[in-house]
Amino acid sequence: MERIKQHAIWGHRGTFVLAATGSAVGLGNIWKFPYIAGENGGGAFVLMYLVFIALIGVPVMIAEVLLGRHGRANPIHAVGKMVRQSGASRFWSAIGWSGVLAAFLILSFYSVVAGWALDYVSTAARGGFGGWDGASAGAAFDALLADPWRLMFWQTLFIGLTVVVVAFGVTKGLETAVRLLMPLLFVLLLLLLAYAAVAGEFVRGLAFMFSFNPADLSWKAASVAMGHAFFTLSLAMGAIMAYGSYMPGKASIGKMVLTVAVLDTLVALVAGLAMFPIVFATPGITAGEGPGLMFVSLPVAFGNMPAGALFGVAFFVLVTLAAWSSTISLLEPCVAYVTERFGIKRLTANGLIAGSAWLLGLGSVLSFNAWADVSWLLGMNIFDFLDFFTQRVMLPLGGLLMALFVGWVARRDLLQHELKVEGGVLFGSWLWLLRIVCPVALLAILLAGVWAQFAS
Ligand code: TRP
Repeated sequence: MERIKQHAIWGHRGTFVLAATGSAVGLGNIWKFPYIAGENGGGAFVLMYLVFIALIGVPVMIAEVLLGRHGRANPIHAVGKMVRQSGASRFWSAIGWSGVLAAFLILSFYSVVAGWALDYVSTAARGGFGGWDGASAGAAFDALLADPWRLMFWQTLFIGLTVVVVAFGVTKGLETAVRLLMPLLFVLLLLLLAYAAVAGEFVRGLAFMFSFNPADLSWKAASVAMGHAFFTLSLAMGAIMAYGSYMPGKASIGKMVLTVAVLDTLVALVAGLAMFPIVFATPGITAGEGPGLMFVSLPVAFGNMPAGALFGVAFFVLVTLAAWSSTISLLEPCVAYVTERFGIKRLTANGLIAGSAWLLGLGSVLSFNAWADVSWLLGMNIFDFLDFFTQRVMLPLGGLLMALFVGWVARRDLLQHELKVEGGVLFGSWLWLLRIVCPVALLAILLAGVWAQFAS
């Protein structure tokens, strides 16, 4: 396999952590985690989630980073290299293909949803939440979704932002971006936490998220926690593998992965602690709102609180940054593959891929209005299908194959070489988690996800 150029390497030691955290921290942390924690019993759910992050998220993430760094190439070539060197069946190369394809498909609809956050930044900046109540907030959100041109405008802008970063390449583009964006993201998050503590019902928020009741330890909550532990770490979608391939050889994979998992979890917890106190401070809106929490309840809260306009802007800028650092990590593996496989320029590959994702994204734009009821595949519209297929099918399936491949098939000496160990308890535990525990969990996530779709 010919590669015209040397594969890039991050210029700073900490960049992998920042970049991977940027990929991992997204709508999943800020929007989804707080409301599923609220819906599934608070403290008990958080506890199960932490266990799943440690027992299945971290081992699979180590495996994925390891494949990337060993291959020193885009996900497809990186997996291919380990497959060849292990004398394994070509079947396992599916791991790389499915990762890059999933990244492309997610990019297409994630930029549409990320565009909503941009739209809310602009509304908030114009003082637009002032005096909103539940009904007008719901109507405003519906009006946004009903307008394909407005959705397309923000989607286009969002993909444009992503393209600009990826165009500058790994060190000048991605590295510079995450080194600026991630600190800004942390500062905004802490600012919002302080605001919630001062202006919100902080103790009630705390109690809502962490009150522990053993009766809440249900199977349903466990399966939601397990699925989210995987989703939130951006696993099995090429992103983490691509970032791992830029990691310097000396860096310790285990330590870096643990740091990313801890940071991602902290952001999710702090996001919850920043949001619920604000929601509780506003009469007439509820915390158990579910998916509407971010785009309906919160604007009402901001619209009725002191300095709400300012903090409303801060909040939606935060969401935009979180989504932006995620879409960068979705575009990058695709661009890396096309440049390395076909030897074309980064700029050309970037334009081609982002353009196609934009085009496919129009299908998602229309899924909220004109094509909402058109069933494309399995009775779903385009957005619902892509969301279902990538998160409920490709993610657990790709993760399952990855755990089995690295756990059972890949050459042991190569794994030990990447992890700089010669066996030992830690290595052994990791290997057995990958061999048994992770596959069982991922199979459960796959079956539960498909079941939930078709039983309802
Ligand atoms: N982890 C992201 C979040 O929490 C979502 C996500 C899943 C993602 N897989 C990804 C983002 C791959 C970037 C790349 O919102």
